[in-house]
Amino acid sequence: MRILLGVSGGIAAYKAVLLLRLLREQGHAVRVLPTASALRFVGAPTFEALSGEPVTSEVFEDVPQVPHVALGQGADLVVVAPATADLMARAAAGRADDLLTSALLTARCPVVMAPAMHTEMWEHPATRANVATLRARGVVVLDPDAGRLTGADTGPGRLPDPEDIARAALAVAAGDAGREERADRGDLAGRSVVVSAGGTREPLDPVRFLGNRSSGRQGVALAEAARARGARVRLVAANLDTDAVAGCQAAGVEVVGVETTAQLREAVRAAAVDADAVVMAAAVSDFRPVTAAGAKIKKTPGSGPAPIELVENPDVLAELARDRLRPGQVVVGFAAETGDADGSVLEHGRAKARRKGADLLAVNAVGHGRGFAVDTNEVTVLDARGETVAEAAGTKREVADAVWTAVTTLMSDM
Ligand code: CTP
Repeated sequence: MRILLGVSGGIAAYKAVLLLRLLREQGHAVRVLPTASALRFVGAPTFEALSGEPVTSEVFEDVPQVPHVALGQGADLVVVAPATADLMARAAAGRADDLLTSALLTARCPVVMAPAMHTEMWEHPATRANVATLRARGVVVLDPDAGRLTGADTGPGRLPDPEDIARAALAVAAGDAGREERADRGDLAGRSVVVSAGGTREPLDPVRFLGNRSSGRQGVALAEAARARGARVRLVAANLDTDAVAGCQAAGVEVVGVETTAQLREAVRAAAVDADAVVMAAAVSDFRPVTAAGAKIKKTPGSGPAPIELVENPDVLAELARDRLRPGQVVVGFAAETGDADGSVLEHGRAKARRKGADLLAVNAVGHGRGFAVDTNEVTVLDARGETVAEAAGTKREVADAVWTAVTTLMSDM
């Protein structure tokens, strides 16, 4: 494997020497990319002798080889150890002011960072935010060890042992290679699917909207599961949080962000034209205000609130089931039900399955701590006649996989 070993300027830079030896002993080609300040802790000749490769932190050396682009592109794994607060801040901001940060921007392989710094710096909100940003983009940022720091002080911030960093980094690289291989021969390889997730919002005025409690987690799990099974996945994301979007993008899902039902309808239908399956996991507003005020609605002293007049939104799922934008396409809906005096969750689900005309309807119970904004789910998958074809309970990812298995059965039938 071709590994780039980034070293930033902290006292723990000396441990990078041991990490370099370990990686070389395991047969990997390692190019060391120190920052200028790392070279104040460990000299370039040490890294050069142990790696057998040239060492510089400058982008203006060896210019004809365009190393600031070529190094990142050619790497199978990037490990940054130690990763200082400053290095992570520069990486999170997308800076490219030396050879290491430039390589981080051009690398498309797994990136693992092992932070080391004083506890105060690790716990500072700026560092926390940078770590969160990097993680959301798919960088694996290891937690530092707690223990003796540079001086007499102790606390979290210590660089993990080189053996542990090597083990973690190589496992990440192996997992990534395995994931790509699985995606190539997954049961959705060569298929294109569209998933909608989140909850639509209908504006009342520039600051207020009618919305719902959907977190979008089930839809995100569906998108990620389909990607892992080899599909091309387009996710129409209605008001998802940025971490969820970044996580999906890091997994290779194409994301289109939308706010209202009208926008969601347009994005889903545009993508559905060449999709083998469309899964409507988004909680779509059934109604929208007739008009959205151009300016903030004010209280009028003395008179009560003005009534909000609503109109019905189009039923995106029923339209997809009716129009069949691509022949043979499998159309799947989700029904969140609470059950009421008129019927149980499943009775409402069966009636809805027959009404919507979708090939499959995954029915789940919501409310009272179930369904929304929790990590687990329980669904019964019904066919268009309301007959049960599958039942699944567990994490949202497990439920997602059960839904895709039901979808692939229909695909092979068609
Ligand atoms: N759905 C849709 N367009 C709408 C409303 C819902 O595409 N305007 C889709 C959802 O994405 C979901 C399925 O229909 O896949 C069921 O949503 P749900 O809200 O349970 O159904 P409704 O038709 O709104 O029925 P009701 O609110 O009466 O239970």
